[in-house]
Amino acid sequence: MSSNNARTAIVTGASKGLGAGIAKALAGTGAAVVVNYRVDAEGAERVVADITAKGGRAIAVQADVAGGDDVRRLFDRAREVYGPVDVLVNNASVVTFAPLSDITEEEFQREMTTNVLGTILTTQALAAQDDIDAGSIINISTAGTVSHPPYASLYVASKSAVNAFTVITAKELGPRGIRVNAIMPGPSDTEGTRAIGYVGSEQEAQTIAATPLGRTGTPDDYGPLVTFLASDDTRWITGDVILASGGMR
Ligand SMILES: NC(=O)c1ccc[n+]([C@@H]2O[C@H](COP(=O)([O-])OP(=O)(O)OC[C@H]3O[C@@H](n4cnc5c(N)ncnc54)[C@H](OP(=O)(O)O)[C@@H]3O)[C@@H](O)[C@H]2O)c1
Repeated sequence: MSSNNARTAIVTGASKGLGAGIAKALAGTGAAVVVNYRVDAEGAERVVADITAKGGRAIAVQADVAGGDDVRRLFDRAREVYGPVDVLVNNASVVTFAPLSDITEEEFQREMTTNVLGTILTTQALAAQDDIDAGSIINISTAGTVSHPPYASLYVASKSAVNAFTVITAKELGPRGIRVNAIMPGPSDTEGTRAIGYVGSEQEAQTIAATPLGRTGTPDDYGPLVTFLASDDTRWITGDVILASGGMR
């Protein structure tokens, strides 16, 4: 078993999809997990029930990562129940695919505040804890920052900002023993990609054809990589942005 020094992990946007899979995987390594969600309390409680049924530790905490007060409340609650937070998975995200002409100021605000500001606010909150001497932050980006698919300019721009933020904050937080890495998932079957009509589409078929491992990803594909990055086994890795897409690029 790989060593996992995590005491407390927050996974943002863990009520469904990749976040739910990551939360379950972290709990499986012994971490106490805070399952964050924005509106889907039922989904978050299902993830918590799944973890606790297997003997793990988890609570669900509602918070909109795009708001500073909510993020402070999220960290306060996590610390109150489990103690200092030393693992943070910035997974919460919103997406729409649209041609350039259809991008609105409202959608720009929605995607940038959730995907970029949300990542900044939670990272600040982890770093604001003066009682941790080590930590691991894993930002969930997208393989789109490598493959650059059409109609994804706004979403991919937001995730490209996350990639840059990852590399720079790794430099700033390294001296405190806080590592910051990102993973770039390939297209995966989640509630989110079903909602935007990706799963079952012609675009999915074309992407599978361009994927060396020949399938769409699943929420179970990312937990092992995230738990590895959260663990002391990767103590010498920071500022890295890792492609996890079945070879699709
Ligand atoms: N699925 C893919 O193909 C794919 C590919 C590449 C990268 N990714 C990345 O992987 C991550 C997960 O994607 P997914 O497909 O699993 O997403 P999803 O099924 O749409 O789930 C999104 C999650 O984020 C939460 N969320 C959204 N806005 C939030 C906010 N402001 N504050 C807190 N939580 C918020 C949602 O909570 P509520 O349900 O409560 O609103 C939900 O738990 C994202 O970062 C995404 O960009 C996904």
